[in-house]
Amino acid sequence: MIYRNWIATDNLQISELEKECFKSPWSIDMLNQTTHLKNFYGKVCEVDGKIVGYIGAIYDFWDGEILNIAVKNEYRKQGIGEKLMQEIIDFLCLEKKENVFLEVRKSNFPAQKLYEKLGFIKIGERKKYYENTEDAIVMSKVL
Ligand SMILES: CC(C)(COP(=O)(O)OP(=O)(O)OC[C@H]1O[C@@H](n2cnc3c(N)ncnc32)[C@H](O)[C@@H]1OP(=O)(O)O)[C@@H](O)C(=O)NCCC(=O)NCCS
Repeated sequence: MIYRNWIATDNLQISELEKECFKSPWSIDMLNQTTHLKNFYGKVCEVDGKIVGYIGAIYDFWDGEILNIAVKNEYRKQGIGEKLMQEIIDFLCLEKKENVFLEVRKSNFPAQKLYEKLGFIKIGERKKYYENTEDAIVMSKVL
């Protein structure tokens, strides 16, 4: 198992994982646009040359924002999600960012537990944020 930087040529594999892991997956075009941003940073976890987990974030002068994280179903509950989150947190700390933000579905208990374990706290809600039906919880962590 290796952790390495997310590069644009990973996007095809990641778009397949998006479909497996999310109700509203990012398309390959969305992934391509995002990973070409100068302020994008992402990590993937690879097993035998296949991506089994990934995380992507963007950052500005002060703060970072986690855009997406997922681990392939059969590789969950092995610490991969936590390690990917820690990689991003470490990068943002090195870049001297002050806060990191994210949004998570109200119904997504495993992800909320992961973020709470890493010190994220709820700072607000966005009503009907997902598919104009489900609320998002906004969480942040001071770095
Ligand atoms: C959320 C997700 C990335 C977690 O990845 P993971 O590799 O399984 O997580 P880890 O094994 O690193 O777990 C770390 C911590 O997260 C929490 N956690 C993870 N899965 C959990 C579950 N099913 N139930 C409760 N807590 C859970 C626990 O606190 C766990 O720590 P512990 O093992 O000491 O109890 C994974 O479930 C996933 O890909 N889900 C689908 C995509 C998704 O919802 N992404 C988040 C969008 S906001």
